[in-house]
Amino acid sequence: MPDLGAVTNGRLLFGGDYNPEQWPEETWHEDVRLMKDAGVNTVTLGVFSWAKLEPRPGERDFGWLDRLMDLMHENGIGVVLATPTSSPPPWMGHLHPDTLPVDQDGRTEWWGGRQHFSHSSAVYRRYAAAITEDLAARYGGHPALTLWHINNEYCTYDWGPEAAARFRDWLRDRYGTLDGLNEAWGTAFWSQGYGDWAEVHTPRHAHYLKNPAQVLDFKRFTSDMLLECYLAERDIVRRHTPHLPVTTNFMPLWVGQDAWRWVEEEDVVSVDLYPDPRDPLGAQSGALVQDMTRSQARGPWMLMEQAAGPVNWRGVNHPKPRGLNRLWSLQAVARGADAVCYFQWRQSRQGAEKFHSGMVSHAGERGRTYQEVKRLGAELARISGEVTGRHTVGDIAVLHDWHSWWAGSHEGRLSTQVDYAQVLTAWHRALWEAQLATDFAHPEHDLTAYKLVVVPQLYSLGDAAIENLLAYVRGGGTLVSGFLTGVADEDDRVRAGGMDSRLRELFGIRTLHEWWPLDAGESVECDGFRGTLWSEEIEKDEEATTEAAFKGGELDGLPAVLRKGRTRYLATLPDSGDLRALLAGIAAEAGVRPVLNGLPAGVEAVRRGELLFVLNHSRESVRVEVPGTHHDLLTGATVTDELTLDRYGVVVLRP
Ligand code: GAL
Repeated sequence: MPDLGAVTNGRLLFGGDYNPEQWPEETWHEDVRLMKDAGVNTVTLGVFSWAKLEPRPGERDFGWLDRLMDLMHENGIGVVLATPTSSPPPWMGHLHPDTLPVDQDGRTEWWGGRQHFSHSSAVYRRYAAAITEDLAARYGGHPALTLWHINNEYCTYDWGPEAAARFRDWLRDRYGTLDGLNEAWGTAFWSQGYGDWAEVHTPRHAHYLKNPAQVLDFKRFTSDMLLECYLAERDIVRRHTPHLPVTTNFMPLWVGQDAWRWVEEEDVVSVDLYPDPRDPLGAQSGALVQDMTRSQARGPWMLMEQAAGPVNWRGVNHPKPRGLNRLWSLQAVARGADAVCYFQWRQSRQGAEKFHSGMVSHAGERGRTYQEVKRLGAELARISGEVTGRHTVGDIAVLHDWHSWWAGSHEGRLSTQVDYAQVLTAWHRALWEAQLATDFAHPEHDLTAYKLVVVPQLYSLGDAAIENLLAYVRGGGTLVSGFLTGVADEDDRVRAGGMDSRLRELFGIRTLHEWWPLDAGESVECDGFRGTLWSEEIEKDEEATTEAAFKGGELDGLPAVLRKGRTRYLATLPDSGDLRALLAGIAAEAGVRPVLNGLPAGVEAVRRGELLFVLNHSRESVRVEVPGTHHDLLTGATVTDELTLDRYGVVVLRP
């Protein structure tokens, strides 16, 4: 299968979403001049062009796109061509209201925004296939075309009648019979037994707590329906252009798509990433998504969208201070990105996102944003040849699974303070701050290459995943698990004893008596640290040792950190610095070293192949020790043993 290498040809891609249909044609020529000056070598066309391409049902207007494709080609700019299927034209909803999604309260989501399509609508799918077919036939042979971009950030839910019919089919495939469904959903509870498939619905607005297994299956179904939409379009473009790779852009750590499943169907993994410039942990949240995307890609990946300045969808939207766009772009490159792209090239003057930045802001060519973009383009070109195709490798695997996230988020859980994404982020942050290089992995992946595996929280685990964890530890691996792991099976049925018996045996938990969740802002004292969010009344077995105990209160003396063999179980979430110290200690024991020792706060080191990226996320200038002699690819300077990094400064060192 073609991959990202077929697109990059040894260059880092630099560019972004280009929406020229919003501009007169004179502006296109101005755009091309500015693009070339900035080293832009790729643009994504057509993401929201459906109404322009198909102004009336079945009609086609390709003339403008023909001219653009030619213009890009003449100027040496590659085109990532999107199928426009995320925002259907108004005529579709008008003529076919059944193509519009319905929310759980039965309200229709009308056109006038975007992503107003029902993934289950046969009519929508037919129109989407037809426009995809015609685009692929027309442009498949165009020399500007480098990559297909299917739809955009698949993210629609639908509780409507057609979705309900598809849900029933999906459930029939999964369970075979109504007995199977009733058993898996535990419908004996609250008189929910289904006697006819026609009674089964999407989990619509209900009087009180919904059946969690039904909600879980609805989330699985939604991810699968969106995937079906993607696959239908992917297969069409592949038929026309088997030599060209295909992608669809993920939202960062988005709850709705089982990305581990999706990436099996992509040639290139791409993601959109928008950390808040004001967030003191913006660099870490970026690092998390970059680590995850790289792990999904198992190699170089594409930063499909980021913002050159402010976004316009937060309550308060801050610009990027001078240097931050460069820093975060190079952070992505350090973590394996072979493409640094933006939403969007030129900031719009109309429409819902006119206050969202572009690479060319309203201030135009002289504006700071474009000037910084231009400098970055030149720098990326300089390091391109040394960087592309090289691998960034994590030493530690952080386990993550969407199904477990979905199952663990049910309404009737013991604490709504426990938020899966926040727990995952807290563990990643601890490793990030300890300068430990991390990958993400699915609990059923082959983990044998990792000396250390951590499980922030996997509430539900199937037998295959549990056996995988046991085999990993038997094979000599070190495993650290957070609380609320292995509680339920794949149907969200609580395991006997409140936690899977094989895992209890592995971690040294004889009896799990009670969970003691903590209130917001509450913490619990433990030996050497403070725990947050959660505590547990655990009775350990003889082989386990209490490495840290709860102090005071009901749980006084009971294990907060339990050790057995090469495993640890954490019955609480230590404060951030404490979790960092704990994991750093365990990593050292397991033979995992930080990328670089002794870095000042806010400075991050990342290895990509033999290159060492050192990134200063702080606003202070810092001295950094980098033992040995290196060549800085960005400046051409020789660096021996130490260097100074200005605020937001970066070096890319080759030995
Ligand atoms: C993404 C989307 C873009 C644009 C951007 C704004 O979610 O794919 O089209 O809306 O956000 O930040």
